[in-house]
Amino acid sequence: MPVISVPEAFDEEELYVDLRSIFGHPLFLKCEGFNFAGSIKLKAAAEMVEAAERAGILTPDSVLIESSSGNLGVALSVLAASKGYRFLCVTDSRCNLATRQLMVALGSQVHNIVEPDPVRGFLGARLDYVRAVCASDDRYVWLNQYINPSNWQAHYHRTAPAIAHQFPRLDVLFVGAGTTGTLMGCARYFREWHRGVQVVAVDSVGSVAFGGPPSRRMLPGLGTSVYPPLLDMSYVDDVVRVEEADTVRACHVLARRGFLFGGSTGTVVSGATSWLTRNGARGDIAVAIAPDLGERYLDTIYHSNWVEALYGPDVLNSADLIAAARPS
Ligand SMILES: Cc1ncc(COP(=O)(O)O)c(C=O)c1O
Repeated sequence: MPVISVPEAFDEEELYVDLRSIFGHPLFLKCEGFNFAGSIKLKAAAEMVEAAERAGILTPDSVLIESSSGNLGVALSVLAASKGYRFLCVTDSRCNLATRQLMVALGSQVHNIVEPDPVRGFLGARLDYVRAVCASDDRYVWLNQYINPSNWQAHYHRTAPAIAHQFPRLDVLFVGAGTTGTLMGCARYFREWHRGVQVVAVDSVGSVAFGGPPSRRMLPGLGTSVYPPLLDMSYVDDVVRVEEADTVRACHVLARRGFLFGGSTGTVVSGATSWLTRNGARGDIAVAIAPDLGERYLDTIYHSNWVEALYGPDVLNSADLIAAARPS
């Protein structure tokens, strides 16, 4: 029986969903949404805050500030509340309402950027705002998830070893890419492991992380409008890009089986199944990482008006969805 006195002390690390009966591929989905921040970002936030505390950068007077599309903001809100720091989250209009409300409920301040930078997108505009605040007041401490090595080290120390422990014969790992902290931590760990594991990055179409032109992306979490400094392609074996309509479809297929996951899980599952269809060998053991759960997306991915307005009516009427509603 886990008994805790601080929220960061609990993080379910051993839960997987076997997707074979839903998608027809031997793919295990590692669920990272079962903690008090509701996402994998609790690990990155904890590692970055603890490193800053050890380095003496954080003092009781400090105000944490961070640019986040939502989940890191919630995770830092949880930690700030738990440890007694103030926190200002700089997000943008794509951040879900529920996520913003969560941060406020946890005692954080939220600044919402509504105008993207014409070249560097919403992320560029968020980073400019964070820099301006830090320059104006030296109590602000920016952990900067985009360049902070503790971001990937959190996954090198925790996420990847947990997967290795459960799947000692792992062949392929699918990881979505935002800051690429999860991707790089896992890829570095498995590069040093006792057997070869193919690490496949999954990104959204329209993201610039792995090349390709920028274009509209409406789902937070995965993808970036600015090249991610943590990314080292020499550790990445392959890349799959997923259209947002396919992300939404995968989310709804999972939901029809009772698994309500967040948007990036739909992206990773869609990318993984298409990659396995093209490249998977019989008997391969594959794991994909599900960064969060679906409640925060009820007014977007799981709202039919929102989906139809952005991606057209066919996305939610496809044969896949109908088939998925009838368990085999
Ligand atoms: C829902 C969700 N999925 C995926 C990611 C990407 O993780 P990373 O920043 O480690 O690449 C994030 C990051 O914020 C996220 O919030």
